[in-house]
Amino acid sequence: MTEPLLDAGEQLASSTSEASLRRTEVRSAQIEAQIAKDPSGFRVMTGDRPTGNLHLGHYFGSLANRVRLQDAGVETFILVADYQVITDRDGTGPIHERVLGMLADYLAIGLDPARTTIYAHSAVPALNQLLLPFLSLVTDAELRRNPTVKAELEATGDRPMSGLLLTYPVHQAADILFCKANLVPVGKDQLPHLEQTRVVARRFDERYGRVDPARPIFPQAEALLSNASTVLGLDGTKMSKSKGNVIEIGMDADTTAKLIKKAVTDSDRNITFDPVNRPEVANLVLLVSLCTGGDPVAIAAELGDAGGGGLKKLVTEAVNEFFAPIRARRAELAADPGYLIDVLRTGNARANEVGDATLAEVRQAMNMVY
Ligand code: TRP
Repeated sequence: MTEPLLDAGEQLASSTSEASLRRTEVRSAQIEAQIAKDPSGFRVMTGDRPTGNLHLGHYFGSLANRVRLQDAGVETFILVADYQVITDRDGTGPIHERVLGMLADYLAIGLDPARTTIYAHSAVPALNQLLLPFLSLVTDAELRRNPTVKAELEATGDRPMSGLLLTYPVHQAADILFCKANLVPVGKDQLPHLEQTRVVARRFDERYGRVDPARPIFPQAEALLSNASTVLGLDGTKMSKSKGNVIEIGMDADTTAKLIKKAVTDSDRNITFDPVNRPEVANLVLLVSLCTGGDPVAIAAELGDAGGGGLKKLVTEAVNEFFAPIRARRAELAADPGYLIDVLRTGNARANEVGDATLAEVRQAMNMVY
């Protein structure tokens, strides 16, 4: 039975709706409980675009969570999504430095290449080949309804939609399915891609069948939404390199201090934790809380009428102290690019093994073994 294409498209378009979000949150909590009991049933896959250095928004929003999952014993695949770099810009930019910088960030924060496979799109041919059969399983109408793609197109100003931007969610399905990952820790902007991934997996099963009659070739991958609080940039809006409001993981203590000095606060000297009415101040208090493990309300109360200056002094100390060991490790790693490349090559080799095995099954299901 072939499912009606329109329904899938509608589901995809609404995958960031409140109701759908609530369901995903509930499900994420159940998955966390299962992981605590037995992590062996899960394979995590996620990744980042190498478009710039990773920052504190990445760290507290997702990177720390990956390390936690790895350390909980969940098998983890981390993708350096280099082909996604060219979805919304011309050319790859200083890609080599950026990939090495990202590897240094990953290892410095505690991702362990002995347990976690770190690899790049461009080095895993089997992953990319899956895009061909997968593209045949989606319609252009469905692709055009993807809310994240729409938002990304708008963000690029008057650039026309490229074929790659339109289809990259299907490429992302290949990222997830080439290693048969069933758990994808992501932010909510990525939920449409997860929905698309499930649709692709289901339709592949319907159209081509199985190698092992007991189970589909591809699993139904689920999102794992973290309950991490979102760290905003130093101006109280989304932390983003293009806005110049970021603290990078690898920045030195002095640069960090200078940037925090320029952070936006308000004229009320009494420090409170009120994310709705005082987002900039609350965000700085949150940063202290994340770095020290303290309760944000208690931190604000203790600051009392210390004013923006007192708050910024505390934020600077907390951030610099928390990141000092990570930054020291990062500096050592960055000084040894040969080692970083070795890590990536080892990860690429492992990803190729896994991807080749999946592609062999796909060829068999499609009757293309010659
Ligand atoms: N699209 C993700 C981002 O922009 C990066 C990414 C690429 C990804 N492939 C993935 C995330 C697969 C999760 C799973 O951040």
